[in-house]
Amino acid sequence: MSMNLRALWILSKLLSACENIDPVKECCDQVCQNAILETATKLALKASEVLIIAGSHGITEHSTKVDDCKHIALRWLAGKLEPSRAKEVLRGLSNCKVNRVCPLVFPDMRHVAKGCGNDISNKTECCSAMENYVSHLQKQSLITNLQALDCATTLGMKLQRSNITKDVYSLCHITLKDFSLQVAKQESGCLLPSLPSDATFDHSSGISFICDLNDNIPAHWPSKSQLSAPCNKTIKIPALPAAANAQIGLYNEDVIFYVLFAASAVTMMLLQSFV
Ligand SMILES: *[C@@H]1O[C@H](CO)[C@@H](O)[C@H](O)[C@H]1NC(C)=O
Ligand SMILES: *[C@@H]1O[C@H](CO)[C@@H](O)[C@H](O)[C@H]1NC(C)=O
Ligand SMILES: *[C@@H]1O[C@H](CO)[C@@H](O)[C@H](O)[C@H]1NC(C)=O
Repeated sequence: MSMNLRALWILSKLLSACENIDPVKECCDQVCQNAILETATKLALKASEVLIIAGSHGITEHSTKVDDCKHIALRWLAGKLEPSRAKEVLRGLSNCKVNRVCPLVFPDMRHVAKGCGNDISNKTECCSAMENYVSHLQKQSLITNLQALDCATTLGMKLQRSNITKDVYSLCHITLKDFSLQVAKQESGCLLPSLPSDATFDHSSGISFICDLNDNIPAHWPSKSQLSAPCNKTIKIPALPAAANAQIGLYNEDVIFYVLFAASAVTMMLLQSFV
């Protein structure tokens, strides 16, 4: 295949992998993300060749080049898609980064370990220690459905390392919502739908977002061998809220506005030399 045909083939693969991403599945399956990485790797290789021919010595690390080239691949992709579709794809990809980790800080769990110790000899004491502990987590942040799964797994692992081997989540009826900020006046937690970008900003009312208030999904006690929770297909999570209540005016630092691209003459030149 000639260079141009091969480049076109890679780009059409990129387009078909990314034009219809499922924002929740993409975070696990990484179909589009892998296509972007593949394109970026090839692009970086090509860029090195161009620089060598031009007599310039490559001083940039290969990984840095690949990262730069990811932006070029994304720019190209965004230009090929309808604006609304492009926005959806780029937000979906950004959300995967946000959803990959539990954003909560887990304080010392000595009290839980003590309350739930001795094989949970006293259920009342154990659950009161557990409730007290999660009430501290609730003060930290609004989280998404996917993050709540991560957080439940992370805490479960930590508790198991403190010798609490029984499923204290089911014993004490801990749900995913228990990990997130509790919404004022409602005695219930607020989980954002899977996409943090469902939050919107309005100059008069501030940040508003949709809460997933009606699903009481029990927190899943992790098994010893468990991998990253959101990608476990046996656990069902609602992609969108079953019944939504808009909550207006709360500010949350986790709501991130993404600036993905910075156009530069160099990246445009590289792109043109590639296609
Ligand atoms: C369990 O702990 C609670 C609170 O600390 C205490 O009031 C209760 O007597 C204990 N129950 C038993 C059976 O030890
Ligand atoms: C857990 O239990 C083991 C064996 O009983 C003990 O050696 C270890 O120190 C305990 N770890 C914690 C964190 O309590
Ligand atoms: C996924 O979750 C199921 C059910 O809780 C569990 O049995 C299984 O080990 C998990 N698999 C992985 C790969 O984590």
